[in-house]
Amino acid sequence: MIERHDVERILADPASLVPEADAAAARPADRFRARASRFVNGEVHAARRRRLEEFLATLDVDALAHAAATRASALAHAGADSVAVQVPVACLAEQLGFAGPDATPALVAVLAGHYPTGGPSDRADAALVRLLAAAPPPGRREHRDDAVLRVQLLVQACAATAALITAALRHPGAADDAVPTLELLERVLRETPPVPTTRRIGPDGGELVLHLGGPDRGASPAGPRILAFGAGARSCPAPAPALAIAAAVVDGLRAC
Ligand code: HEM
Repeated sequence: MIERHDVERILADPASLVPEADAAAARPADRFRARASRFVNGEVHAARRRRLEEFLATLDVDALAHAAATRASALAHAGADSVAVQVPVACLAEQLGFAGPDATPALVAVLAGHYPTGGPSDRADAALVRLLAAAPPPGRREHRDDAVLRVQLLVQACAATAALITAALRHPGAADDAVPTLELLERVLRETPPVPTTRRIGPDGGELVLHLGGPDRGASPAGPRILAFGAGARSCPAPAPALAIAAAVVDGLRAC
C-alpha cells in the first residue's frame, strides 16, 4: 500500500491525472459523469472547479448548521443511518435552490451509487433526470451545465458526509462527554477517512489506488496526517460545509 506521505505527494502533483469518464457516453448518468468536474483533467477540470467554488461561496455555513440541527432532531426517530443520508443532502439542496429538497436525498443516493464507476443503470438515469428537473432554472448569466454541477455537489456530499456522521457516532469517543464533537470528527477523518480511496493514473499508464487512511511514515505526534479531504488542486472544495453539517447532526444525535 502506498503510504500517506507518498499519497499526498502524488495528489498534489499537477501532473497526476484522474481516470476520465467517457465523453461520448450515450446514457444520461454516464454523460453526467463526463459533464462533472470529477472525471476530467486539465483546463476543463479547472473551469468546472472554479464554477463549483462560486456555488459553494454562496452557501451560508451557519445557516446550514442550523438547518441540519433542526432536520436531524425532527428525523431522529428514523435512526442515525437515515438521518446521515437524508439531512446533509436536503440542507444543501435547499440552499442550492433545488425544488422539493426533501425529495432529493433518495435520488442523490441512487446516483451516488453509480457515480464512482459508471455503467448502465436505469435507476441512476431516472434519478438524474429528476434531479436536473429540480435544479434551479438557469438565470441569464448561467451556463447550461450549471445544473449538472449543482447536482454534482449533492452527489459528492452524499456518501462522504453520511459516512463521517455514522463513523463518528460509532466511534468509542462518542459515548464520552469529555470528547467534543469536532475532536470526534477529526479522529474519524484521521483514522478511518469517509472516502477511503481515490485513483490516479500511474507513470506506466495503469490506475493507482491511493488509500487516504493508510500508514504514514511521516506521522506527527498527533498521529498520521489527515488526507480525508484529499490534497492539491482536486482536493475537496467543501470541507467547511461538510464539517458544519456533520458537527450539527452528530451533536444533535449524541444528545439524544
Ligand atoms: C466529510 C465529508 C466529505 C469528505 C470526506 C470529502 C472528501 C473528498 C475527497 C477526498 C475528494 C477528492 C477526491 C480526489 O482527489 O480524487 C473530494 C472531492 C470533491 N468533493 Fe468532497 N468530501 C466531503 C464532503 C463534500 C461536500 C459536502 C461537498 C459539496 C457540498 C463536496 C464536494 C466535492 C467536490 C465537488 C469534489 C470534486 C472536486 C474536483 O473535481 O476538483 N464534498 N471530496
